[in-house]
Amino acid sequence: MYLDVARTPVLDIYHLLVGIVTPRPIAWVTTLDPQGRVNLAPFSFFNAFGANPPVVVFSPTLRRDGTKKDTLRNLEANGEFVLNAAVEPLAEQINLSSKEIPYGDSEIDLTGLHTLPATKVKPPRVAESPIHMEGMVRQIVPVGNGPISANLVIGEIVAMHVDDQILDSSGRIDPRTLRTIARLGGDWFCRTSDLFEMKRPT
Ligand SMILES: Cc1cc2nc3c(=O)[nH]c(=O)nc-3n(C[C@H](O)[C@H](O)[C@H](O)COP(=O)(O)O)c2cc1C
Repeated sequence: MYLDVARTPVLDIYHLLVGIVTPRPIAWVTTLDPQGRVNLAPFSFFNAFGANPPVVVFSPTLRRDGTKKDTLRNLEANGEFVLNAAVEPLAEQINLSSKEIPYGDSEIDLTGLHTLPATKVKPPRVAESPIHMEGMVRQIVPVGNGPISANLVIGEIVAMHVDDQILDSSGRIDPRTLRTIARLGGDWFCRTSDLFEMKRPT
């Protein structure tokens, strides 16, 4: 199969892209609207890009009707977020929190999850998640302006909360305890339970 992107429908490109770039980690993002109502949504166009300062990028694309997702609207309004770890015991709630509900309605109520206050930003943390990273927007970079076009939210992490129970004896995060999930194409997800170790070449 060969595709010239300029001659291929956007939806076909989207399905190919998310099938190819796999597995994708999931940013499970809490934000606040200008009235202080909590929004929660997952984004798998996501990764970390440096540690000094710690920088993450995730992308709430424009909806298929070209409108902005609630997370993007909130970040444009106040620039603060919390990234909650997307872990296997919370898979159902992560998926449910992707439901499109009216602006201002909270996915926290929808999922039955609970919140804890953050320390340096106003959006709260998802209490059930074992890791929270508090972040502030550095820049939002739109790329394109049609349906499913990217909005790169470049965020700086300013505080991290890590449940001690997921640390190993040397104080590092133990992936066997954390059990992150990740996104593949279509409705597929994967677990991180089939792990192997490999030493870096010296
Ligand atoms: C696991 C998962 C990953 C997702 N990743 C993205 C993504 O990277 N970008 C995006 O725009 N939507 C993504 N979605 C869809 C959004 O979560 C969905 O549009 C949601 O309603 C957006 O919420 P908001 O309008 O409250 O911001 C994903 C959904 C799921 C279940």
